[in-house]
Amino acid sequence: MNSIEAIEIDRLERQIQLDSEKSHAERNRQGQFATPPGLAAEIVRASLKMLTSEESIRFLDPAFGTGSFYSALLKWLTIDRLARAQGFEIDEHYGRDASSLWKSTPLQLTIANFFELPIPLTNEERSNLLVCNPPYIRHHHFSQESKEKLQRLIGKYLGLKLNGLAGLYCYFLLHAHNWLADGGLACWLVPSEFMDVNYGREVKKYLREQVTLLRLHRFDIHDVQFDDALVSSVVIWFKKSPPQENSSVDFTFGGSLSSPTKTTVIPRSALNPNSKWSKLDSSTFTDDGPSTGTTLSDLFQIKRGLATGANSFFILTPEEAARYQIPAEFLRPILPSPRYVDGDEILADESGNPILEKKLFLLDCKLSETHVKQNFAGLWAYLEMGKQKGIHAGYICTHRSPWYSQENRPPAPLLCTYMGRSDTKVARAFRFLLNHSQACAANVYLMLYPQPFLLKAIDKNPELLRRLWDALNSIPVERLIHSGRSYGGGLHKLEPKELAQASADLLMHLLPPERRQDSQSELFDPSAEGS
Ligand SMILES: C[S@@+](CC[C@H](N)C(=O)[O-])C[C@H]1O[C@@H](n2cnc3c(N)ncnc32)[C@H](O)[C@@H]1O
Repeated sequence: MNSIEAIEIDRLERQIQLDSEKSHAERNRQGQFATPPGLAAEIVRASLKMLTSEESIRFLDPAFGTGSFYSALLKWLTIDRLARAQGFEIDEHYGRDASSLWKSTPLQLTIANFFELPIPLTNEERSNLLVCNPPYIRHHHFSQESKEKLQRLIGKYLGLKLNGLAGLYCYFLLHAHNWLADGGLACWLVPSEFMDVNYGREVKKYLREQVTLLRLHRFDIHDVQFDDALVSSVVIWFKKSPPQENSSVDFTFGGSLSSPTKTTVIPRSALNPNSKWSKLDSSTFTDDGPSTGTTLSDLFQIKRGLATGANSFFILTPEEAARYQIPAEFLRPILPSPRYVDGDEILADESGNPILEKKLFLLDCKLSETHVKQNFAGLWAYLEMGKQKGIHAGYICTHRSPWYSQENRPPAPLLCTYMGRSDTKVARAFRFLLNHSQACAANVYLMLYPQPFLLKAIDKNPELLRRLWDALNSIPVERLIHSGRSYGGGLHKLEPKELAQASADLLMHLLPPERRQDSQSELFDPSAEGS
C-alpha cells in the first residue's frame, strides 16, 4: 500500500467519525455530505482526460471537506504534475482533520468562508483545474442579508442577478469563475434541479454564454448517488474560455461517467436558458436521424432560386443597367453568387436592396414586345441585342411568355447555399443565410419560405426568425450531406426535395406548442397565440 492509499483509508474512517459527531439536520443545513470515494475517483479521472497530458496542474476544491477529490487526484496523478493544490473549508470540524491528514502532501488548505476570501488577481494565482461538490444549502437556510451580499458579489463580477430562490451551490459555481485561470477546466457535482427551474436561469445563461460548456452528465434519478442527501445530481464540465458559435455539448445520462447509458450531442444554440435542459436529452435529440419525424418541409416551402435562362444577359450591374437605359421598374435586386456574400446575414438599405459590395439586378418585364418597343427605347434595344445573340431561343426562354419575363420568386427570408466543399478551410458545405433584403436569388440558392403557421408566428415575434436561422445553421453538416448527394473532391449538392426531407428536430423547441409533441416552447406565449 502506498502512502496516498493509507491516507485515503484514514480519511474515510475520519469522515465517518466526523459525520457522526453532527446531527443529520445540522449537516443538512451546512451542506455537509461527502462525495462517495468511488464517484469522486470517477469524476476526477474523467476530468483529467479533458486536460492535455503534459499540463501541470494548479488544483482547487473550494468546498474541501476532508478532500475526497484531492485524494482522487493524487490517486490518478503523478505528484510532479501537481504544481499547486488549494482547498477552502468553512468548518473547522472537517478542516482541522483534513489539514492534519494531508500535511505530508502539497495541499494548502485554508479554513475560511469561500465568499470572504480575497479574489486572486493574476492568471498564475488562479487554478486550471477546479473540482467541487459545493454545499447544497437551500436558500431558506441562509439569511436575507447574506443572500443580498452574495447576489451583489455575483452581479459585480459576472453581471448576473441570481434569483432569491437559488441554492448556495449556484453562488459557488458562479463565484468560482474568479478563481479559474483562462482556459482552465471546472467540474461541478451539483443537484440537477437548476436545469429545470426558474432560479437556474442565470446559471444556464452563464454556462451558455460565458464559458465553453463541454459536457453534462445526469445521473439516473433511481440511482441515487448520495445515501443521505436524496437529490438527483449532475456533473458539469466547462472551460473558462469564450464559447464557440457552432459548438455542441455532450449530454450524457445514466450508467457511469465512463459508460453512460445515453449520449446526445446538443448544439449550443439549442441551449436556451429559459427552457428545461433535462428535456434536451429526451427523444427530441437523437444521434440517428429524425426522431420526431418532422422535416424541414413541415416548416418551410423550399424552392430552388430562379433559372434566368442566361445569367449574363438577364443579370446586370447598375452600370450596365444605366448604360443600356433599362428603366428601374424592370429591375429587381438579385443576390450575387454566395462567394460574394461574406457574412450569413444580408442587410438591406431603405429601398430593400441588399447591402453587399457586388450589386446586381435582374431584368424582369411582363410587358409585350409591342408595348416595350413603343415606350422603352433603351430596353427594346437591349432585347434586340439579346435576340441577335439567340438568347430568346434558349430552352427556358422559349417556355415563358414573353421570353424576357421571369418566374415568380418572391424574396425569401432564409436561403441555403447548397453547394460547397466540406474540405475547404471554411468547412461548411451548406450555409443558411438570413435575408432582410427584397432581393430574389438565382438557382445557386435554395429559398426557404416559412409555412403559413410559422409566418404568423414570426409576425407576432420577429425574433423567432433569427432563432430559426441559428438553429438551421446548427444542423450538423453530416446530416445535410446525408440528405444530399456527394460528388468527388468533397463537393456536396442539395436538391430542394432533399433539404425538405432533412430532420427538423433541432428546430422543434422553437415551434408553437401545438406543433410540437413535447417540451415547452421558448418563444411562444400561449396566451398571445390568438385563435
Ligand atoms: C458537499 S460537501 C463536499 C465536501 C468534499 N469536497 C467532498 O466532495 O466530499 C461541501 C463542503 O463545503 C463546506 N462549505 C460550506 N459552505 C462553505 C463556504 N462558504 N466556504 C467554504 N466551504 C464551505 C461544507 O462545510 C462541506 O464540508
